[in-house]
Amino acid sequence: MKSIPIYPTSGKLPLTTDEPPPAGAPLLDKRGRTVHDLRISITDRCNFRCIYCMPREVFGADHAFLARKELLSFEEITRVARLFAARGVRKIRITGGEPLLRKHVENLIAQLAEIPDVELTLTTNGVLLPKLAGVLRAAGLHRVTVSLDAIDDATFRMMNDADYPVAAVLKGIAAAEEAGFGPIKVNMVVKRGVNDHCVTDMARHFRGTGHILRFIEFMDVGCSNGWEMSAVVPSREIIERIHRVFPVEQIEPNYTGEVAERWRYSDGGGEIGVISSVTQAFCSTCTRIRLSTEGKLYTCLFAQSGHDLRTLLRAGASDSELDRAIATVWQHREDRYSEIRTANTKGLQKIEMSYIGG
Ligand code: GTP
Ligand code: 5AD
Ligand code: SF4
Ligand code: SF4
Repeated sequence: MKSIPIYPTSGKLPLTTDEPPPAGAPLLDKRGRTVHDLRISITDRCNFRCIYCMPREVFGADHAFLARKELLSFEEITRVARLFAARGVRKIRITGGEPLLRKHVENLIAQLAEIPDVELTLTTNGVLLPKLAGVLRAAGLHRVTVSLDAIDDATFRMMNDADYPVAAVLKGIAAAEEAGFGPIKVNMVVKRGVNDHCVTDMARHFRGTGHILRFIEFMDVGCSNGWEMSAVVPSREIIERIHRVFPVEQIEPNYTGEVAERWRYSDGGGEIGVISSVTQAFCSTCTRIRLSTEGKLYTCLFAQSGHDLRTLLRAGASDSELDRAIATVWQHREDRYSEIRTANTKGLQKIEMSYIGG
């Protein structure tokens, strides 16, 4: 057995690679989960400073972002993505930071769009969509998800902490629709006492538009956002609040392991979703892996260290060596953070979401 070093961030624990299953055979982690989603962060920068993700106290003017040469190139990303597709990945999501800040992101999309049988999606804060939606669509992007945390301007400006108005995001959503992306998913992170008073107003705004509004429980991702359980609004409560104004009923998931629980307005006003990663963990069906901006693989959103693929890539590893490394990382995977979250896990040195990708 040839040994390929894949060093976690800590620099300890060099892993030796296992014999990977033959091409076409299922690749399973230690809990029997396959790898289906690859989430790729292409920049750690963002034009927003959302208080739950990149608080200004931590990501202010003196924050050191990654240097250009640290980032994986589009060719490196595409090479890794192809190898993952060969191991069963069927959905690729481009994230960040704000992925539309990466120069010529459409060229990456065009390269990834050539990988067969893979749905290509992107999560954005939306403000650059008026400029880029058309080129992204033409490059072969299938879907976009836009984050919007409030429909009330003062609350939204306070949450993005960069003075962007709601209208800038709504323009982005409209541009995406015009470019042919649709229905568009709109993600709202709900923080108690901060934007939870906007829940029904957001529902009212997006009802009947065809877009799918999803409410996300505020998570303890990273170490900088001052997370407290008391700031989480459980999805049950969100549904109850909406149901009182606009009656809703639950609908079947689109597929096993879907992150969002789906609901629809009883009067035909469309679909909404809730993502309950705190109150109803979904680790048992988690088929997601993340590739960070500078080429580390993370097997959990709450990981404390990643596996350095970039060193291998830049040392001239062959496709089969890279495939072996990827397969080994997945085969060793045991993560189920959201199922074991306790008061004690709060202090762990977890990776920031803007770096690992939402
Ligand atoms: P689609 O519904 O296919 O568009 O994708 P999705 O359900 O994965 O949605 P999306 O990628 O927009 O994820 C929505 C949010 O769910 C993310 O921003 C995270 O807040 C949360 N989330 C996604 N994946 C995970 C995960 O693996 N673990 C946890 N704990 N939360 C996740
Ligand atoms: N909790 C829940 N969701 C988060 N996101 C970022 N940080 C958090 C957090 N702490 C979500 C954003 C966006 C996506 C990129 O990740 O809402 O939709
Ligand atoms: Fe930027 Fe998205 Fe994080 Fe907000 S949640 S700071 S838009 S990466
Ligand atoms: Fe997957 Fe980790 Fe999220 Fe659980 S906490 S669903 S294992 S990414």
